[in-house]
Amino acid sequence: LDYTEPYRPQYHFSPRKNWMNDPSGLLYHNGTYHLFFQYNPGGIEWGNMSWGHATSRDLNHWDERPVALLARGYPDTITEMYFTGSAVADVNNTSGFGVDGKVPLVAMYTSMYPVAQDLPSGKHVRAEQQSQSIAYSLDEGETWTTYDTENPVIHNPPSPYEAEFANFRDPFMFWHDDTQKWIAVTVAAAIHKLLIWSSDNLKEWSFASEFGPYNAVGGVWECANLFQMPIKGDPSTKKWVLVLGLNPGGPPGTVGSGTQYFIGDFDGATFNADPDNIYPDNKSANWMDFGPDFYAAASYNGLPDGVVVQIGWMNNWQYGELIPTNPWRSAMSVPRQLSLETVNEKVTLLQQPQQNWRTVADREALRRSWKSVPEGPTSLDSPGKAFKIDLSFSDHDSDDSLESTFAIAIRASSDFKQETLIGYNFTSKEVFVDRRNSGDVSFDKTFASLYRAPLSASADKRINLQVFVDWSSVEVLGGQGEVSLTAQIFPEESATEARLVSTDGMTQDVRLQINGMGSSH
Ligand code: FRU
Repeated sequence: LDYTEPYRPQYHFSPRKNWMNDPSGLLYHNGTYHLFFQYNPGGIEWGNMSWGHATSRDLNHWDERPVALLARGYPDTITEMYFTGSAVADVNNTSGFGVDGKVPLVAMYTSMYPVAQDLPSGKHVRAEQQSQSIAYSLDEGETWTTYDTENPVIHNPPSPYEAEFANFRDPFMFWHDDTQKWIAVTVAAAIHKLLIWSSDNLKEWSFASEFGPYNAVGGVWECANLFQMPIKGDPSTKKWVLVLGLNPGGPPGTVGSGTQYFIGDFDGATFNADPDNIYPDNKSANWMDFGPDFYAAASYNGLPDGVVVQIGWMNNWQYGELIPTNPWRSAMSVPRQLSLETVNEKVTLLQQPQQNWRTVADREALRRSWKSVPEGPTSLDSPGKAFKIDLSFSDHDSDDSLESTFAIAIRASSDFKQETLIGYNFTSKEVFVDRRNSGDVSFDKTFASLYRAPLSASADKRINLQVFVDWSSVEVLGGQGEVSLTAQIFPEESATEARLVSTDGMTQDVRLQINGMGSSH
């Protein structure tokens, strides 16, 4: 297999074949980054949900491993599917799963039971019930044993939410040092509630508290993720960040899935969002990403204190099963290192790609600067199909009646009828990704759209954009990473041109660097 099919991501993880959704069980252990993911071993649409597995030493080159948790009863009569969850290394063997000094890796996942049944543990589950179960591995995540004598370990949602048993899922667990306990956050998805649990041994869990609904409450809340980070320049102050998926109900201008976050505090029992992170009447939200294709983001367990690396599913439930790729569907975002910094007196979440670029950014295709780029198009040499762009230019004020923009067109045909535009609107002060003419947009009527994210200029009045282009995606980070926009694109293979476009006036002090990106396969 050479990973050269049309649209095949070159430096983003995608499974060799079949359907993939959420990253699950991101764990760094013994020098290996584990990536488990929602996987259909039998097709390129959602179904037979199992945990796929890949490993990496550098978050860049991935080695796809055998399926870790295969849907029970696959392929004939499925009695349990393994939905999204998380994994930890139980270094103190609190679970007792370790033998002969081997550290057990413990995963918690949502058991989705399509049919009512009596389980080996003696517990009864109803049709369509979702409960939380655990499994352990004593061979570095290669094979797993489900804890059938007790599963599910969190059988039902807590009182008074018992009726939510069919929408109770996505446990994200981690070690909470201050209270010396394991914490798991789950969701009662349909009523927009975060449900927090704690445990001494990963087997017995007690309900601690709830949070929500707040801010973005479209569709369901899914895939909660909670972690702690220091504030840059003020390392004694640490804050907690809660990330939640909304489906549907993403940022304005998107359709389908989206991801919001809250900054606040967590004491081992209760999460409280900072007052300035709760918006009146749920009218606004903090968006992790302003594009359509960043969902179910999860962070790594097992990294040094305060280091947070997240990976998102680079797709959207609106059209995820229709994207024109074969024999696989979906890729993961580039891993992103998160940090907190006080910007304009507000604690702000920043994202920076976390990868060992030198191993894939193999050549410098172009480095140029312009005192000013005139109005209209400015040609560039073809950068190809996979590359990284650093583009920076001066901000300027613009008359409200004009649409003054500066953009780079990429993955363009030679007549520029096909192109994806990534740029900045000086009038509205927004970064944008325009995929209206990006290639194949036919499979979903909402796909051909333009996406925007608010971004103000840096202290030296510049706009800085970092763009990661792969064979079927663009990820844009604006400023120092305070906004991100992720979007899939499906251009023709021959669409490899690029140019700059300045509208309603020239753009000053432009600096551009483009590095070709090689394959990480
Ligand atoms: C989110 C999600 C999760 C669920 C999983 C099932 O994308 O719906 O809530 O656990 O996908 O595959």
